[in-house]
Amino acid sequence: MTDDVLFFCQEFEALAGRRDEPGRYYQNRAYRNASVSFRNSTRHNCQKAAALLGTDGCPLHSITARAELVTKVGLNPFLFPAHLLPGCDLLSDSGTTTMTVEQWAQLLLGDEAYGSNEGYFELNEQFGVTFGEVWQQRFDAPLQTVFIFHQGRAAEHALFFNLARSLKVEGLKPLRQRLAGKTGDVYARILAEIERMERRVYASGQKWEEPVYLIPSNGHFDTTEANIAASNIIPLNLNCVEHRNNDEKFPFRGNINLVELGELLNTIPEHIPLVYLTITNNTGGGQPVAMANIRTVRRLTAEKRVPFFLDACRFAENAWFIQQREPGYQGREIKEIVREIFSEIDGFHISLKKDGLVNIGGALLIRADGLFVQRYPGLLEQLTDYQILTEGHPTYGGLAGRDLKAIAEGLRTVVNPEYLASRIGQVQRFAERLSASGVPIIKPAGGHAVYIDIDRFFAGISNEDTDYKGVAFVALLLIAGHRLCELGVYAFELEGRKPPRNNFVRAAIPRLTYEAQDLFATAEAIRLIYEHRERIPAVEVLSGKDLALRHFKSRFKFKQQKV
Ligand code: F0G
Repeated sequence: MTDDVLFFCQEFEALAGRRDEPGRYYQNRAYRNASVSFRNSTRHNCQKAAALLGTDGCPLHSITARAELVTKVGLNPFLFPAHLLPGCDLLSDSGTTTMTVEQWAQLLLGDEAYGSNEGYFELNEQFGVTFGEVWQQRFDAPLQTVFIFHQGRAAEHALFFNLARSLKVEGLKPLRQRLAGKTGDVYARILAEIERMERRVYASGQKWEEPVYLIPSNGHFDTTEANIAASNIIPLNLNCVEHRNNDEKFPFRGNINLVELGELLNTIPEHIPLVYLTITNNTGGGQPVAMANIRTVRRLTAEKRVPFFLDACRFAENAWFIQQREPGYQGREIKEIVREIFSEIDGFHISLKKDGLVNIGGALLIRADGLFVQRYPGLLEQLTDYQILTEGHPTYGGLAGRDLKAIAEGLRTVVNPEYLASRIGQVQRFAERLSASGVPIIKPAGGHAVYIDIDRFFAGISNEDTDYKGVAFVALLLIAGHRLCELGVYAFELEGRKPPRNNFVRAAIPRLTYEAQDLFATAEAIRLIYEHRERIPAVEVLSGKDLALRHFKSRFKFKQQKV
């Protein structure tokens, strides 16, 4: 090789090793497009949309028609037709994945036999490869330990509904009585959660029974929380101190608060049927949980013989953060880190619509030799019966045989380090772009989404909680053509709650779907709204304010600003 060629080789190598700067990229994506989907933009489709929705013009192309449609759907992004968005749909990273060609190939190979089909055996084997052999269903085992569901919340519902039926209440005082006289922040929060549940139950006209159990977590997702509460158990979030203090330097802001967890396990262990960690912590800003935190939760729960579960939706993204940030893990493979995480727990539920890299699917896996089975021996049988009544046999759980094969393939892809670096790198660049425009976001950014901090967004501007300006901001972005989601004062009913609180608007990035150009167009629209934030109007709630999970159902309208 000549000196000149060698010179260029070295320069190219240095270029590939550089970190991206705003507007410049030094690394390629880990994939290329194998198929694309044009937006629904033919003249015929536009006319059809306008006629169907009764708008003056096509909402895909005309801003005023889109504004009209946003008004018609009551400013609620969940009700806006997704195919009429010209920009990025960042409502959720769930089920919005673009599948790989290998996954599409697997769909064609699907075996549609009724239960125990080929896909199930493949997926079961893949569960063993991905999470560790103990998680695989043993075919000679008398009881089912692997339960397939059509999505995560169906698994949650099955678990909490059946768990609640197995729990005994005799001899246990209601939580409020049990905690009487106890001082401290964590007890005050439990009492506030009980009162919140009581208000909801009364508002819905149901019978109120004082709860005796609670399930602590680093951060329950909203459906998890609702499923726990619907089973008359108190869901409790114990964010770590660094999370509450907005400590940007702390690499694992998704951690659970070990001091508070330890205190509860010491004082009221008989009231805690299960401890949960959500990886990554979606409600708390998509932040990762450290291996050290997982290990300590294992130790604390094992001492009291309390089972420990994961909500494992984004397990691979969490493992990537451990590899990047936790001392001792830099040289370790993602696959190994995943197995280490899952060696610490008694069971997990997962929405495979995230790190399963599929459009539909979920599962509940219970370790046959774990504490959960020991503590609730009848529950596996109960779960099997329940599943047959609701989703079908546990070996397909409401999914087609082809879906099971696509999940197995997705689980093989998701631990690929190039994929994870590319995926999380994209989220981080989007975050940096917003931050460079001054938009206040949760830092460091999480793995699947960027969380805009609404309390700081409106700092210094009149913004009562009941103005719901986070909702207004999302509605304005819809008019601009991009869909985000309010996860704050309205979604979590935080009105009047003192900081620290999780008051966010979230931009969740679908996997393998958008390019930087798309995300940067969203960032520009957000920048524009941020620069004119004093003009963001308050909204009035037209309906749904007192409903559970109200953000999915409510309708709003913009208020006229007082001059
Ligand atoms: N747990 C977590 C941490 C989640 O993020 C979700 C869904 C679920 C459970 C429920 O799973 O949707 O399959 O029923 N999160 C989506 C989101 C909807 O947008 O964050 P599912």
